[in-house]
Amino acid sequence: MSDHETVLVIGGAGYIGSVNVEALVAAGKRVIVADNFEYGHREAVHPDAVIEECDIRDGDAVRGMFDAHTIDAVMHFGAYAYVGESMTQAERYFHNNFIGGYNLLNAMRDHDVKRIVFSSTCATYGDVQEVPIDESHPQQPINPYGCSKLAFELLLRSYEISYGIRHAILRYFNASGATAEHGEDHNPETHLIPLVLQVALGQREHISIFGADYDTPDGSCIRDYIHVSDLADAHIRALEYCKNESLFCNLGSEHGYSVREVIEAARKITKHPIPAVEAERRAGDPPRLVASSKKAKELLGWTPRFTDIDKIVETAWLWHQKHPNGYAW
Ligand code: UFG
Repeated sequence: MSDHETVLVIGGAGYIGSVNVEALVAAGKRVIVADNFEYGHREAVHPDAVIEECDIRDGDAVRGMFDAHTIDAVMHFGAYAYVGESMTQAERYFHNNFIGGYNLLNAMRDHDVKRIVFSSTCATYGDVQEVPIDESHPQQPINPYGCSKLAFELLLRSYEISYGIRHAILRYFNASGATAEHGEDHNPETHLIPLVLQVALGQREHISIFGADYDTPDGSCIRDYIHVSDLADAHIRALEYCKNESLFCNLGSEHGYSVREVIEAARKITKHPIPAVEAERRAGDPPRLVASSKKAKELLGWTPRFTDIDKIVETAWLWHQKHPNGYAW
């Protein structure tokens, strides 16, 4: 059943985008996926979605998409997101994450599209003073990735003031887990959970623990792992919410798990010993990131269903067993 609303999903062939497309289709939306397939996978796009191969850095191509389709709202997942890479490639990050977004907003303004849900990040907060982190925490990003995301947040606010485009800025913590159909397949892979599962699949010898001497109970870094299905649920709610007003909020499970706890959960789920080796700290890693999601809960009526790391890892493991080489099989 379609409610006849058409949503353009930028980056809908990526990890978080593809799960959101799945949720939009289930909610009865018509979906157009725009992706340049640099990191996205055609196989990850829901069969009911229309595919537009488009790079948002190309303003004419973006306008062309809006000319060709009647679009009611936009979800934007099309950013570069490797923190480490961004440290030496600020231009690339601003070109895609800021200029690309600028092209998108101009096309929206020119075609009278008034709603956008944007994937932002807890990396916009920078050096975290205390956890849980709520939205009143200062935003002082410490890497070009976080800076580019914050810059686009400010552009969104400006385009609301000048042109009345309403936005939902959703600041994710650590997206994780999988649905039956869609999981995490990055190249290169840098994220903890898929790397741990690659060890269980026999594709890696061991997992490195980046830093064992942090000021945390077991010495390893603590993160807030939020399941992609819970993220998608929040996006569907945010899409409705910003029909009336804009919003910015965190999306996390409000539970912190250390690197060692994640590895232990994976050992339990996969029944593989998963050898772990202590390694140097990774530059730029804050010791502890845990969200307060109070605002999202209150404004969106959202409650994350996955708060237990075992369950999150289990969903990822099911997907990785089915797709040991990711989407390339
Ligand atoms: N880690 C290891 N070994 C590995 C990989 C990761 O110990 O082989 C550790 C990291 O040091 C970190 C934790 O596992 O402490 C999680 O690392 P991820 O790379 O999975 O995720 P990050 O917390 O670094 O990054 C995530 C998102 C980014 C976002 C960032 C916000 O992937 O896009 O959170 O800080 F910007």
